[in-house]
Amino acid sequence: MSDPKNTERSLWLGPDGWSVEIIDQTKLPYEVAIARLGSVEDAARAIVTMQVRGAPLIGVTAAYGAALALREDASDESLAAADALLRKTRPTAANLGWALDEMHARVQPLAVCDRVSAAYERAAELVEEDVAANRAIGEHGLRVLRSLLETKKPGAPLQILTHCNAGRLATVDWGTATAPIYLAHQSGLPIHVWVSETRPRNQGAALTAWELGERGVPLTVIADNAAGHLIQRGAVDIVIVGADRVTAGGDVANKVGTYLKALAANAHQVPFYVAFPETTIDWKIQDGIAEIPIEQRDAREVTHVTGAVGRSKRAEVRVTPEHTAARNDAFDVTPARFVTGFITDRGVCGASAAGLKQLFPDAAINL
Ligand code: MRU
Repeated sequence: MSDPKNTERSLWLGPDGWSVEIIDQTKLPYEVAIARLGSVEDAARAIVTMQVRGAPLIGVTAAYGAALALREDASDESLAAADALLRKTRPTAANLGWALDEMHARVQPLAVCDRVSAAYERAAELVEEDVAANRAIGEHGLRVLRSLLETKKPGAPLQILTHCNAGRLATVDWGTATAPIYLAHQSGLPIHVWVSETRPRNQGAALTAWELGERGVPLTVIADNAAGHLIQRGAVDIVIVGADRVTAGGDVANKVGTYLKALAANAHQVPFYVAFPETTIDWKIQDGIAEIPIEQRDAREVTHVTGAVGRSKRAEVRVTPEHTAARNDAFDVTPARFVTGFITDRGVCGASAAGLKQLFPDAAINL
């Protein structure tokens, strides 16, 4: 396996040139561990168990999963079986189906003997496209942050609230919501990030706090329930979150809890932006509440929490009475009317069908 310190990206090819290595996100922040994916089953398991997570990274991992399957058997049947296995791993992230469609389109028309190299080539392109898209989101989002900073007292930090992890760990690099944050920090702009913990799996507390902290971005973790209070008290200048699926009409599915933050931001006229690449848009649907599939996860994630005992030992403890019923909807939908704007790889637009159409005039809208 590669040097465990080489974790600038969330996913890369191993030294053998064909297996895939990932940062195992189930171990963070207690341990920076690398896991090796050597088969399509490994890739599917990594997505289901959330060793990799975040819509863009799920897509790229699935693309390599297809390549790994073809390496074992490059037939049509093998491609179809890999596609079916990977497609059902997590239902909400649009990037998953998009990446698998891309792989199919590149590989399926080819002769069997040409498919493996073509699959690896396309997966590697998706990796670089992801990095470039996120970097572009960063540049466009940076302009939004700069203009808000101009409204503040000189030197006072811009207070940014984010939810879940839409950071570099959720993508190959840069993140979506975090890309403008990283660029602002690198440019020396005064910023501070409120990181909401994101129960039940605590992606904010465990992952966003880890990755922002690792790169020196000033941050404070808050309980999810504190966000409305901070927004009401004027402690938040802007909310930026990521997205798992955005409809052609501008509705946004993101980690559960996003909707409540949008409502609070709307009530107090705090700008609420959603950052995502084009690959997160589902041009086939309009109404997010009716049409976006919401993943239901194991109730144990609600009844139990995982944390560190001492410096690195991981332990799970129960927080409810034994045998308590629990329900675990992993995402929610924020209607477009509560979103101030979208920060995409093509630029910033209003959260509406018209706004999206203006940035993506070539999109094949298929309603
Ligand atoms: O369940 P997760 O951790 O995969 O959910 C991740 C999110 O909701 C992110 O905000 C979203 O995927 C955007 S990632 C750039």
